[in-house]
Amino acid sequence: MNIVLGISGGIAAYKAPDLVRRLREHGAEVQIVMTSSAEEFVTETALQAVSGRPIRSNLWDKDAEAAMSHIELARWADVVLIAPATAEVMARIVSGGAPDLLTTICLASEAPLVLAPAMNHVMWSNPATQSNRAVLEERGVHILGPGIGSQACGETGAGRMLEPNAIAAAVASLAGGKLEGAMKGRKVVITAGPTREPIDPVRYITNRSSGKMGYAIAQAAAVQGAEVVVISGPVNIAVPAGVEVQAVQTAEEMHEATLAAVADADIFIAAAAVADYRPAQVAGQKIKKNNEQMSIELVRCPDILATVAALDVAPFTVGFAAETEKVTDYARGKLEKKRLDMIVANRVGSDCGFDSDDNAATVLWNDGEKRFPTTSKTDLARDIIELVAQRFYAVRGSDTEPRLTVISNSD
Ligand code: CTP
Repeated sequence: MNIVLGISGGIAAYKAPDLVRRLREHGAEVQIVMTSSAEEFVTETALQAVSGRPIRSNLWDKDAEAAMSHIELARWADVVLIAPATAEVMARIVSGGAPDLLTTICLASEAPLVLAPAMNHVMWSNPATQSNRAVLEERGVHILGPGIGSQACGETGAGRMLEPNAIAAAVASLAGGKLEGAMKGRKVVITAGPTREPIDPVRYITNRSSGKMGYAIAQAAAVQGAEVVVISGPVNIAVPAGVEVQAVQTAEEMHEATLAAVADADIFIAAAAVADYRPAQVAGQKIKKNNEQMSIELVRCPDILATVAALDVAPFTVGFAAETEKVTDYARGKLEKKRLDMIVANRVGSDCGFDSDDNAATVLWNDGEKRFPTTSKTDLARDIIELVAQRFYAVRGSDTEPRLTVISNSD
């Protein structure tokens, strides 16, 4: 898998070395082509060290051209990825101009072109940039992001470059399984988000889960090459590249969809905050406030995680334990009681866990545990998935047949 990684001149270029590492972890060869303004944000030395190849930047470099001309480079690429892609580089590609090596390769290559835009949010929403984006998409260019959040300029909005592992996941799925990952050929089913248990047509019982951790885990598993199915309660999160999402509302629906999806799964990860109880009766009409007091009778919801772990042929099963106190003690109790392969324990409360972008966790299994200090949910998910893959192969053996028959995307 050969990737030409174009780096244009935006502050997000500082993430380029990490992106190169993520792509190389999948076995990709990465040839970097920088624009002259990118050199203001990231050094050639750092990029050469992580990519293991000399950096190309000048169309008129005779020695580099003699080794591999820009036309050969354009043909060598299986994917041309530009990250970060500035407003300027997008405009140049739209116009078909080719004043430098990177835009020349874009014109000369037949490989899929993928852009990860990064710019100030006002520049991104400018009609000129939006019209360039629309033209590029019409021409079949893949645009990844940008993400929404705080920006280097101190403002907030849409314009952040997606995180390197999200970009790597998207490129991996585009590459049609040509990238290698620890979970390649494995099917991973993940529950995520809250459930909603209706009381009447306008009211329900739910919880504070945002689904961010489950979706980050899904993305991390996709980056590692897994086929990923998320059974998701109601959340407000973009579907990660290469991930199938099945939307459900109630614990019952999540239970049913999960049991169907795990039938051929290798790994099941229960990251959802499933309601433990639901109203025994759902009123057909809106309940009126006729009485001073009212009570709602609740009945137990099915425990999805325990049901899957108890299947005759169960997938490698990983639970989550959200606790407000005695976090590892309670989590180890759940690991044993529900007969899980692993459990991810984290503290929740008014100041941590729910709806936050960061999290810390301790992962436990029967004869070990590993603590991950507070970091972004994206990085934590990557570390958890790497550990899950290690434990999966340690317990089941590296030659375990995938339960899903993979129809390979051969060349
Ligand atoms: N879980 C599940 N189905 C349920 C309840 C929980 O699949 N009906 C899963 C969660 O996705 C999580 C794990 O069980 O992976 C632990 O959930 P948690 O609510 O922390 O623990 P409980 O077992 O419900 O115990 P308690 O509420 O007493 O802490």
